[in-house]
Amino acid sequence: MENILYISCSARKYHENISQHQSISRMLGAQFLAEFNRSGYEVEVTHRNLSEKQPAFIDDTFIAAAFAKGTLTKEQHLILEESDEIIEEICNADIIVISSPMYNYGMPAVLKAWFDMAIRINKTFSFDLARGNKPLKPTLSGKALVLLASWGEFGFRKGESQYHLNHLSSHIEQLAPYLGAEKFYEIASEYQEFADHRHQSAKQLAIDEVTKLASMLSKPKH
Ligand SMILES: Cc1cc2nc3c(=O)[nH]c(=O)nc-3n(C[C@H](O)[C@H](O)[C@H](O)COP(=O)(O)O)c2cc1C
Repeated sequence: MENILYISCSARKYHENISQHQSISRMLGAQFLAEFNRSGYEVEVTHRNLSEKQPAFIDDTFIAAAFAKGTLTKEQHLILEESDEIIEEICNADIIVISSPMYNYGMPAVLKAWFDMAIRINKTFSFDLARGNKPLKPTLSGKALVLLASWGEFGFRKGESQYHLNHLSSHIEQLAPYLGAEKFYEIASEYQEFADHRHQSAKQLAIDEVTKLASMLSKPKH
């Protein structure tokens, strides 16, 4: 039995059988889950749709509560409630799947808000100055993170000419250990803004790669 936490965040929706103005990242997410189910492997999916249920932005009261020492007040428990819920979902997951568009060369604001709630001191990382210049240490482990992305331009993959502009993949890969992810996989569809044959091929390639990855990850581990 595998627990998948699926985080989606495109401002666009996705419905099967509609062809236009649909979220490509959500389509890739749906494809991944469908393939996982098809494998017959027992799986439980928790879907958090950040566009429908937007995480709150953290503020000074949140930070004070997150860093508070000793017993928390009732108000502080309430302030941390959403973050607690998000962290519990992460702790329960074996695989975290994030489907995300590239907005302004980075992640959508709702996804960043989710990460700010998710990565918390003494919950997902410890902080100890005795470790010298690297005081932060992730506390969760053993998970895989799958990023299913879509962008309008192209050339953003590792080794390609525009990789330095891609603050979506590199940022999420950098944060992955703080979610307990020791493996990071990324698949992206490109050229959405060009709406030409390159986009059609890139989308099909991404679908094929997603199918392969879901089938590989749904194999029982020994
Ligand atoms: C607000 C906004 C900002 C965008 N910024 C970029 C960008 O910086 N680079 C890029 O290649 N595409 C950009 N795009 C195009 C999207 O990444 C592309 O449409 C992608 O397919 C969106 O994901 P979705 O299909 O899952 O909604 C942007 C689109 C929007 C709506």
